[in-house]
Amino acid sequence: MLRRMTLVELDAADAPLLEALARLSHAAAATHAPRWLPTLDDAREEVADATRPGRVARVLLGADARPLAWGSIFHVYGHVWEVHPLLVDPAHHRRGYGARVLAELEARAAARGAGVLIVGTSDETGATSLSGRDLYADPVAAMASMTFEPSHAVGFWLRMGYALVGVTPDAEGPGRPSINLAKRPPRA
Ligand SMILES: CC(C)(COP(=O)(O)OP(=O)(O)OC[C@H]1O[C@@H](n2cnc3c(N)ncnc32)[C@H](O)[C@@H]1OP(=O)(O)O)[C@@H](O)C(=O)NCCC(=O)NCCS
Repeated sequence: MLRRMTLVELDAADAPLLEALARLSHAAAATHAPRWLPTLDDAREEVADATRPGRVARVLLGADARPLAWGSIFHVYGHVWEVHPLLVDPAHHRRGYGARVLAELEARAAARGAGVLIVGTSDETGATSLSGRDLYADPVAAMASMTFEPSHAVGFWLRMGYALVGVTPDAEGPGRPSINLAKRPPRA
């Protein structure tokens, strides 16, 4: 029988899957945010965090049952739910896998009453015009005129319907901000 891709819940008891996700995450973060998951152990911790109570996590498995992408969403406060992380195997970027996992996470959060979905994407690599400058001087003007390289994830979030709602200066070190985006959840 021909197997297809499947979107499954992250199973905390599936040790080989957790390890495969850690390796995927380490590789996926390497280019976007080298300081985020610098070691495989950091990536293992990121995956383990997503198995904690309260976290909603989904994994997209390929036809061979190997993970292609995964992500998690969780309640932060009030009506706010945060997407973190969302990671796609670098060998499979731009095939719709990130969007597919994200849509499922958004639907799950909406079903649980989310009023707003948020995400933060850092600029550690100078890939946006918000990097390497003092954003305290006029953060609103800096955001309004933001430009970014096609490689940076902020383009993905904008394409997914997220709006630029803020910037956290120096979040990842001097001149390395985090870009804050938000979206109204889909109707549950
Ligand atoms: C960002 C990431 C999750 C996107 O996943 P992906 O599977 O490559 O993206 P998709 O193929 O689902 O893209 C969906 C749409 O967004 C667009 N898109 C994807 N990445 C984009 C980018 N960097 N800039 C602009 N548009 C982008 C796609 O072209 C596609 O557009 P379409 O609907 O018109 O065809 C993935 O590149 C990744 O894992 N990056 C490294 C880790 C990371 O940055 N995670 C997010 C942390 S904030």
